Amino acid sequence: MSRLHVLVLGSAAGGGYPQWNCRGPISSLFWEGDTRVEERSQSSIAVSPDGVTWALLNCSPDIRQQIIRTPALQPKEPPRHTPLASVLLTNGDIDHIAGLLSLRERQPFRLLATPGVLEVLKENRIFDALDPTLVPRQAVALGESISLVGDLVAEIFPVPGKVPLYMERGEPEIGAESETTVGVKITAPNGPTVFYVPGCAHVPESLKTRIAGADLLLFDGTLWRDDEMQLAGVGQKTGHRMGHISMSGPEGSLAAFRDVELGRRSFIHINNTNPVLVRDSRERQEVEAAGWDVAYDGQEIVL
Ligand code: MLT
Ligand code: MN
Repeated sequence: MSRLHVLVLGSAAGGGYPQWNCRGPISSLFWEGDTRVEERSQSSIAVSPDGVTWALLNCSPDIRQQIIRTPALQPKEPPRHTPLASVLLTNGDIDHIAGLLSLRERQPFRLLATPGVLEVLKENRIFDALDPTLVPRQAVALGESISLVGDLVAEIFPVPGKVPLYMERGEPEIGAESETTVGVKITAPNGPTVFYVPGCAHVPESLKTRIAGADLLLFDGTLWRDDEMQLAGVGQKTGHRMGHISMSGPEGSLAAFRDVELGRRSFIHINNTNPVLVRDSRERQEVEAAGWDVAYDGQEIVL
């Protein structure tokens, strides 16, 4: 049976944990040296069939530091080399694409995304720093199965989302299912299946059906409750307005996935206001009692 290696490179949402300018109650724990919390970089995972060659799923502004602390992703051969064969993007958010700028310096790899997300890169000319003759951009259609790295196959599917923050003009549509925000199913032949869904505004029945029976679900853990940013005094937006479902409550992800059969379930893309970041918090205990893990930077899962 083929194996599937997953490395959690960045378990935090945009801004990371702690966020550079945040003195909310959860970020403050870090600044005060509280040992119940740990630093987390911005949202990305790597997957591999063999632990040797890897594909990145999203490319965070922290990619350089993520590579520095991850021997498997470091260059192995002179003069220049990378174990990264490809990068697949799930949306055009800054936390998922800004690291592409750190992957310049004439290194070949494949860049995979929906036509809509590729359009965002095209409109932002700074991404031309990645020479298309070395970094071909491959459009991936919804429902299409593509080779990711080695014999790992990825299929992307739409999830309820919204346009990236920097592209909002007026009130954006929230929760539309389109190629703007996708989830990824990764499979090894006759082997395990992993779902990676770092951004999702709500959980439709179709998503539960699709995911049921997977070996691992890595799911949007941005907020514990919808008004968390307001309660912390760090912003006016609700989770819903940001295009992210909350963990708690009757409409939350804990309730939505309660009866869905899964090998493992893990929250990822966790915001710096979320109390599950605190190791002994009531919310962390609630999440773990419901059978969920809270993913952490450097976590390696071999299925
Ligand atoms: C999000 O996940 O909502 C975005 O990454 C927010 C942002 O762009 O900072
Ligand atoms: Mn994000």
